[in-house]
Amino acid sequence: MNQDRRLRVGILGAGQIAQAAHLEATRKARNAELYALCDAAEDLLDAVAAAHPPQVTYADYDAMLADPRVEAVIVAVADQFHVPMALKAIEAGKHVLVEKPMGVGVEECEALAGAAARSGLVLQVGTMRRFDPNIAHAREFIAERIGGVLAMRAWYCDSTYRYEMTDALQPLIAAGGAPRRPAGDPKADRRRYYLLGHASHLVDLAQFLCGEIVGVRAQLAEKYGAFSWFVSTEFADGAIGHLDLTMAVRMDWFEGFHVYGEHGSVVARAFQPWYLRSAEVECFATADGAYHRPLGADGHVFRRQIEGFADTILTGAPQAGAGARDGLAVVRVLAAIGRSLDGGDAVEVAGVTGAV
Ligand SMILES: NC(=O)c1ccc[n+]([C@@H]2O[C@H](COP(=O)([O-])OP(=O)(O)OC[C@H]3O[C@@H](n4cnc5c(N)ncnc54)[C@H](O)[C@@H]3O)[C@@H](O)[C@H]2O)c1
Repeated sequence: MNQDRRLRVGILGAGQIAQAAHLEATRKARNAELYALCDAAEDLLDAVAAAHPPQVTYADYDAMLADPRVEAVIVAVADQFHVPMALKAIEAGKHVLVEKPMGVGVEECEALAGAAARSGLVLQVGTMRRFDPNIAHAREFIAERIGGVLAMRAWYCDSTYRYEMTDALQPLIAAGGAPRRPAGDPKADRRRYYLLGHASHLVDLAQFLCGEIVGVRAQLAEKYGAFSWFVSTEFADGAIGHLDLTMAVRMDWFEGFHVYGEHGSVVARAFQPWYLRSAEVECFATADGAYHRPLGADGHVFRRQIEGFADTILTGAPQAGAGARDGLAVVRVLAAIGRSLDGGDAVEVAGVTGAV
């Protein structure tokens, strides 16, 4: 396997997430190259390509996929387009890094996971918190040092001040032309949009740390334009969990988790993602009676996720990011949360089908 060359990446979508994360991250990655950029909105494509010059631009996705020099595609388009666009890439023989959530319904994600498995290509889902080195450290510590997990809780509370923060942190985002977006206005359904867009991070994190969620019971409070989901979870190993998604709290961004094990515990506080600051993680082990606190100096989760993706493709390194099964598991839990809210009951995740 060649460890010296760079993966030739084509990015589909020159919108907000591409401009705020993937373009710079691909250019900075030690083992990737921004080879192609594709957007149907040609004014936007030109403006973004001027700031982040790729080798080639395409207004037509099929044309980008027909380019044999494109080895992998980052699918950075609206949630409803993730599965169809990722499937096309797989059919064209390209590896895929698809933004989170993997899709908007269980069946389409099953179809994509099946296609990816049959193809032998790498499919990764963009829940980039897995590439926070301190969160990865916490996961390892949980697996290796604290024995069986009794319980965990995790919270992801967006801030009403988020745009003041992101405006200060992100580059100027170019707009223009007529971006291709799903029919209707899917973001108008806040409940569904927040589950897909934000709970996807929370659920992936919980499963990354503590394994598969097999049952959920959800409650939702909605007042003055704010939403709070409290979800009781049951993990495959019998641990229990509590997930809190609140959109949005009247204070700073508030995110973190606690995990309690037989021989130790982990507590973590994560920051607004655009600070690119690794989470503060403290891991306590009864074996040495000490807290362990990694620095995590490099918190560029977007660059690190592309490097991990490229490592898997170029060198066969184990997949550090969320794979197809992880992405599907998240969408199934999100759909289960919806079913639990519909029926007011506990829901077994395994049997859940349909849309989130
Ligand atoms: N990882 C994160 O934390 C994070 C943060 C923000 C957004 N996202 C995700 O990123 C995704 C994209 O969000 P966004 O705000 O950048 O969207 P956007 O709609 O602003 O940008 C998508 C761009 O893709 C183009 N496009 C769509 N379909 C196309 C096609 N078939 N051919 C050519 N061009 C096409 C559109 O013209 C548009 O310019 C969403 O799924 C969102 O959930 C992830």
